[in-house]
Amino acid sequence: MSKTIPVALGERSYNIHVAPGLLAHAGALVKPFASGVVPVVTDDEVARLHLQFLLAALRHEKIEVQPITLPTGESTKSFAGLERLVSALIASGVDRGGMIIALGGGVVGDLVGFAAGIVKRGIDYVQVPTTLLAQVDSSVGGKTAINVAEGKNLVGLFHQPKLVIADTALLKSLPKRQLLAGYAEVAKYGALGDAEFFSWLEQHGNAALSGDDATMTSAVAHSCRMKADIVARDEREGGERALLNLGHTFGHALEAATGYSDRLLHGEGVSIGMTLAFELSVRLGHCDAPSARRIRAHLESVGLPVSIAQIPGERPDAKIVLAHMEHDKKARNGRLTFVLARQIGESFFTRDVSKQAVLELLAA
Ligand SMILES: NC(=O)c1ccc[n+]([C@@H]2O[C@H](COP(=O)([O-])OP(=O)(O)OC[C@H]3O[C@@H](n4cnc5c(N)ncnc54)[C@H](O)[C@@H]3O)[C@@H](O)[C@H]2O)c1
Ligand SMILES: [Zn+2]
Repeated sequence: MSKTIPVALGERSYNIHVAPGLLAHAGALVKPFASGVVPVVTDDEVARLHLQFLLAALRHEKIEVQPITLPTGESTKSFAGLERLVSALIASGVDRGGMIIALGGGVVGDLVGFAAGIVKRGIDYVQVPTTLLAQVDSSVGGKTAINVAEGKNLVGLFHQPKLVIADTALLKSLPKRQLLAGYAEVAKYGALGDAEFFSWLEQHGNAALSGDDATMTSAVAHSCRMKADIVARDEREGGERALLNLGHTFGHALEAATGYSDRLLHGEGVSIGMTLAFELSVRLGHCDAPSARRIRAHLESVGLPVSIAQIPGERPDAKIVLAHMEHDKKARNGRLTFVLARQIGESFFTRDVSKQAVLELLAA
């Protein structure tokens, strides 16, 4: 059930390998790119669960490794975290022609990608994503970033990895809530551009989430293929890549309105956001109501939140949510940007949505 997905970017092309148990083969996969000491960067939680297996696989191929463990959590993706990592990388002795491995979720992947892009003016790196979100989204496409006081992911660069190794068996140790949050991004691919995949998820999504390796591997591989194809056509988000933000205008605003707290994970925000984006599409006459109902029903059936009322604690105020949308880094001159849908599998980007329509939907 092993799958290999090429990301076609000319001289920056690379492969994504997806299979359960792949960590054991990481040495052989990495070997062609390794030279000298290879820093392996991870967070405390992933270190406890999976680091020793990756180190053993690398050492088996006589690769010299230097583990670097960072504190778990989003706050590691900061200037302070970057400074600590850069120092550790330089101290490790990795050279300009060498390579760095990122083992972890999107936090580790984004930070290591950024550090690899700037240390010694750029060193190669390999992504070994360990969350579902990282396997289907953040490890693919070369966007790297840290958060600053002014907002999330505002400082970073494009730096494509040399290789992505997605071992779907690693997802078994992921807390259910994190797994579901990542699944929102999987469903997003079907919703934004592949009706057949969405139908497949309606039939098999629950099996994938319940630990069936073959179905999860298919879901991850298909998601990666969709992202890889979009990135290959639009690496720097001049156009089509923006469709990957389906559900994210609402989602980001809800995350901001809830203080980026444990009340709402990113993927949960995306799930509510996608449901709202389809509802808005129906209200504006772009999309048929049954499509929107199917989106909501499927997300709900796997256990994801689909409405603002499901966020624990005080309901975020519609006006405050709208204000966050106006400050979204993708908004221009105060005009909101949205990915809306014509039907499941057909989405489009627009700046022509009135604030009134959004307020009415948020208040409903
Ligand atoms: N670069 C991109 O294109 C892109 C795209 C989407 C999201 N992101 C970024 O990704 C980050 C979120 O990523 P995330 O959701 O993976 O968060 P994360 O990296 O914080 O991981 C979530 C939690 O799961 C733990 N964990 C990781 N793998 C595990 C495993 N196999 N078993 C048990 N626990 C495990 C981590 O220690 C952490 O506590 C955000 O910073 C976001 O901005 C980047
Ligand atoms: Zn997302």
